[in-house]
Amino acid sequence: MSRLVQATLFMTLALTLVLGATACTSESATEPTPATETGSDSTPEPVVDPAKQLVDSKCSLCHTLDRVYDATKTRDEWVTTVDRMKSNGLVVSDDEYTTIVDFLAGQ
Ligand code: HEC
Repeated sequence: MSRLVQATLFMTLALTLVLGATACTSESATEPTPATETGSDSTPEPVVDPAKQLVDSKCSLCHTLDRVYDATKTRDEWVTTVDRMKSNGLVVSDDEYTTIVDFLAGQ
């Protein structure tokens, strides 16, 4: 084997190693980090009652929710109260009205 062939083989081998190493490095750089994959699983969603969310959003427009949650009323009294809130300017659909009254009466 001539020196030239030997040198060529060595260069080819060296080049292959360098390219191989470069390929590995860029591959690992694009791997997704495990933290972003498992992060959402570790904090469970708090269970939120949709009826409470409705009351919280609708009834906090004009006054604090203390006014709502401090009151102890029967279902009839809540009907009267929510009717009065409608005349005060509360805007709710029929479905929302029922959901709100049911939720407040069940408190
Ligand atoms: C458009 C404004 C407005 C919205 C929206 C509103 N309120 Fe009121 N609320 C008032 C006003 C004004 C008063 C005080 C005068 C009165 O009692 O009517 C009041 C007073 C109250 C009181 C105290 C008086 C009582 O009868 O005990 C309660 C309880 C109450 N609101 C509950 C609610 C609930 C429940 C909701 C959501 C379904 C709501 N409000 C949404 C305007 C509003």
